[in-house]
Amino acid sequence: MTNPTENNLYLPSKEVIAKANVKEYDNLYAFSIENREQFWAEQAEHLGWYQKWDKVLDASKPPFFKWFCGAKTNIVHNAIDRHQHTEVRNKLALIWEGEPGDVRSFSYHALNREVSQFANILKSMGVKKGDVVTIYMPQIPEQIFAMLACAKIGAIHSVVYGGFSHEALADRINDANSHVVITADGGFRRGKVVEMKSVVNKAMELSPTMEICITIKRVNIDVYMENGRDYWYHDLVSLPIASSKCDTEQMDANDTLFLLYTSGSTGRPKAMIHTHGGYSVYISTTHRMVFDIKPDDRYWCAADPGWITGHSYIVYGPLMNGATIIMYEGAPTYPYPDRWWKMVERYGINILYTSPTAIRGLMRFGDSWPNRNDLSSLRLLGSVGEPINPEAWRWYHEVIGNNKCPIMDTWWQTETGGFMITPLPITPLKPGSGSKPFFGNEIAVVDDDGNEVKADEEGTLVIKSPWPGMTAGIFKDTQRFIDIYWSKYKKQGWYLTGDSAKKDKDGYFWIIGRTDDVIKVSGYRLGSAEIEGVMISHPAIVESAAIALPHPIKGNCIHIFAILRNGYEANLELEHDLINHMVTHMGPIAKPEAITFVDQLPKTRSGKIMRRVLKARALGLPDGDLSTLED
Ligand code: PRX
Repeated sequence: MTNPTENNLYLPSKEVIAKANVKEYDNLYAFSIENREQFWAEQAEHLGWYQKWDKVLDASKPPFFKWFCGAKTNIVHNAIDRHQHTEVRNKLALIWEGEPGDVRSFSYHALNREVSQFANILKSMGVKKGDVVTIYMPQIPEQIFAMLACAKIGAIHSVVYGGFSHEALADRINDANSHVVITADGGFRRGKVVEMKSVVNKAMELSPTMEICITIKRVNIDVYMENGRDYWYHDLVSLPIASSKCDTEQMDANDTLFLLYTSGSTGRPKAMIHTHGGYSVYISTTHRMVFDIKPDDRYWCAADPGWITGHSYIVYGPLMNGATIIMYEGAPTYPYPDRWWKMVERYGINILYTSPTAIRGLMRFGDSWPNRNDLSSLRLLGSVGEPINPEAWRWYHEVIGNNKCPIMDTWWQTETGGFMITPLPITPLKPGSGSKPFFGNEIAVVDDDGNEVKADEEGTLVIKSPWPGMTAGIFKDTQRFIDIYWSKYKKQGWYLTGDSAKKDKDGYFWIIGRTDDVIKVSGYRLGSAEIEGVMISHPAIVESAAIALPHPIKGNCIHIFAILRNGYEANLELEHDLINHMVTHMGPIAKPEAITFVDQLPKTRSGKIMRRVLKARALGLPDGDLSTLED
């Protein structure tokens, strides 16, 4: 990157362009749109297949698009098995650092052994192809092994983020009808032990389907283990059943690889389905092209595997591309605010991918912390999860990237599987814009009738064409999938993203934010319905509404409006009690910033809470259109 031009465009340097995997955008983009199936078939040739496809895309039953029909594969075949026969075998697949400073590393050969042993253990516990296994773990290598072990034997993993409470976990276990859970006794965070097995124990009491729990010993605390239900992983792995030889199950390309719960507009969290074939092609291609992966790269996606970013770009994408991944267990500021920068220096990290919240959080400690470390190994930076404000972008670019690392601001969603709008390393960058659609994708900003809005005008972000990484639907809820994503622009057959955006005259996209009741706190996706459900489980509350308000570090924070039951009095003590109630029953990520007690909530005549009115009032802005307000 060079310094910005007059119109604030950051141009890639000659060296970056010379070395980039993809050297040109416009022509290849045009080709990928005109020859979508050919483009994706060519990308699919980078991977190994047990059997090739008869048809690249079956679009006969939209919105249930099928990719690489007739093909046989398994994502593990590409993430691990294939590398055993090349020079990648002895390369490091994973360098992991625990918060206390312990380090473990695994070659691709060792990864194969670990995953095969884990897979054999799961099989011996009766786990079969198509079964859903829940994973609730700290960020330790076994989390990755567990995911890959499930995929290897054709089981479906459902990773639940470790910051969720036992109730949120139980809801997800029950919805997926999962019989097996994999966890750890706990993990380390900010110098303290975060208990996990005790959370799982409580969740299992609420989960009638749960039969088996496998626990990894990480923090060495006493935990309750029940005979016939609970097993320590270290006991199992020493048994003859845990052989390091295990065949990878041959899956149909459209078989389910994983479920991942995410929040939507209404109701309970929904499990998005991703499959082995199309997902493998989409994730490996986007990762290779956007992060410009080279054979010797050390690549660090500092997300949590419990969210889609971790699934696609900590685990599957980098492993399919044979990269060395870095994983860190704990807090970025522990014991000092340069923990991450020390790690960049220690491991010679070339690519760092994180969220605007993390960047803002580290930026507030000033430049001296990063400046004390040698960050010269960095070549590319990435951002994801929420819009990045230009100030944070510039700090990331100047102080972390030393003005030479292009920033890949990637816009995408749990549902899309991988990057949808993203720069390439050769793209001239505008701070705060994810630039243009990735190859094969037609994306537009439209009004309610589906007409494209003018340049720089706000509208609804839609995806007009299918792509291989797209979700195959919501687990057990076909109708909800159609209703949420495919009904607003049914006539046109477009996918509704739930985001509003602008497109400028140069064709660059600028994401504004969610238009539905999804709240993004620190880039984490929460649903107002789930938050409100937990609030009204408190005896003092009859009704509540959760909204997102701007926050300088987290991007957004949760603000709750609540109506008290008769006999309860609004005071600070009750507010604290309610905040604790949210943390206990949903998890620390759902901690509200404030609770305002009200007598009434603004509603439409049909009884829907008008959250935008609450938000406008809280921000001191005009109410907007109140014609549908009931009272
Ligand atoms: O609002 C957009 C925001 O995150 C939403 C998707 O959240 P989730 O499914 O949890 O996936 C997050 C990681 C991919 C989107 O609808 N979002 C994601 N990336 C960006 C973003 N907003 C602005 N810029 C981004 N780069």
